[in-house]
Amino acid sequence: MSGELYEPETVWEFEMGDRVKFGVGASSELPSAIHEHGASSALFVTDQGVADAGIVDHLRGVLDDHDIETAVHAAVEPEPSVAVYDEAIRAAETFDAELVVGVGGGSSMDVAKTASALLGDDGSVLDYAAPPIGEGRSVPATGRPCLCIPTTSGTGSETSPVAVVSVAAENRKIGLSDRRLRPAMALVDPTLVTSLPPAPTAFSGMDALGHAIESYSAVRYDAKPRPSTPEERPDYNGRSLLTDQLARKAIELVGDNLRRAVDNGNDLDARRNMALASLLAGMAFTNAGTTAAHALAMATGAVVDIPHGVAVAIFLPEVMRYNAQSAPERFDEIVALLGADDTTATASEAVEELRHDVGVADGLGEFGVTEDRVGELADRTIGMDRLLSRNARRMTRDDAERILRRAL
Ligand SMILES: [Fe+2]
Repeated sequence: MSGELYEPETVWEFEMGDRVKFGVGASSELPSAIHEHGASSALFVTDQGVADAGIVDHLRGVLDDHDIETAVHAAVEPEPSVAVYDEAIRAAETFDAELVVGVGGGSSMDVAKTASALLGDDGSVLDYAAPPIGEGRSVPATGRPCLCIPTTSGTGSETSPVAVVSVAAENRKIGLSDRRLRPAMALVDPTLVTSLPPAPTAFSGMDALGHAIESYSAVRYDAKPRPSTPEERPDYNGRSLLTDQLARKAIELVGDNLRRAVDNGNDLDARRNMALASLLAGMAFTNAGTTAAHALAMATGAVVDIPHGVAVAIFLPEVMRYNAQSAPERFDEIVALLGADDTTATASEAVEELRHDVGVADGLGEFGVTEDRVGELADRTIGMDRLLSRNARRMTRDDAERILRRAL
């Protein structure tokens, strides 16, 4: 039609890992999951804390009498650096792992996925980052399968195509995203999460809530031009009917269960529901995309020592307030889904109340961030244009500064 600026998108895509096994006892099906992939050796990639908690020993015990040779690489650190990634790739090569099992939180699963995908490819994880930081190489098809077993409930890494890498030289955190990084299977077993202490339970749960709310309030898939070829359609292609369903259920599950899981880690029903919330929110955001709260959290997390989920929890209500007028009916619905009283609370207030109840920090001040860092953090946020492009309101640098000031 003449006069039209562009031809709007009419198609959405949805993708997730090949399979999920979910529920109490799912991790005891590890032997059959490994055999199914024709593997006779498996490298466990994890962090020292998870290894010390005995979870990896327990899983190796499950493999006894199944003719599967195993080894453990327990060197993943929080906010993993390029060196942590490259060491894991080399460990998988040295052991010649036919399959990799990622056990832990988002960091361990991200590193495991990358090690399984890049094993045998004698470069560095950095080669796969987008220029100018990396060479923008695409992940080869020669990788080995990866199975993910989460021991926290929040990151969604167990089905995502993403690995977050801290690049110290650039003072930046970058997200590699490639469908070949998606795990072949997620084994989500809530019994493995019962020993997680209250603080990480709270902030990983707030991260899951951020994934769900940002997916639910992201721009819709058809609010962008149709790509000239299907291959050019972004992996994060905006919210759709399917991501909406997943996000809504995830918000409701967090509202009903996060306080209970923090109060009593052995409440298996609450743990199961939070594991499900994390999974559903992960499936939603890895298709719809996250938005400005994650842009602010990633930009801040690159230069401030703050857990990702805490940064998300601090920025989320401010960004919801900023976006509220873009879709008032969606934000009203979030109030109800979180079980808050919709005659007195807004959606951002309901999130603030939950954050308070589960004991997560309400400002960056607790992490030593002062007014004089606001300009730098605003610049970094505005640089996250891929995430900001999915935000319902176009965020300016002044907007980012205002939000950062309110979040101090
Ligand atoms: Fe997140």
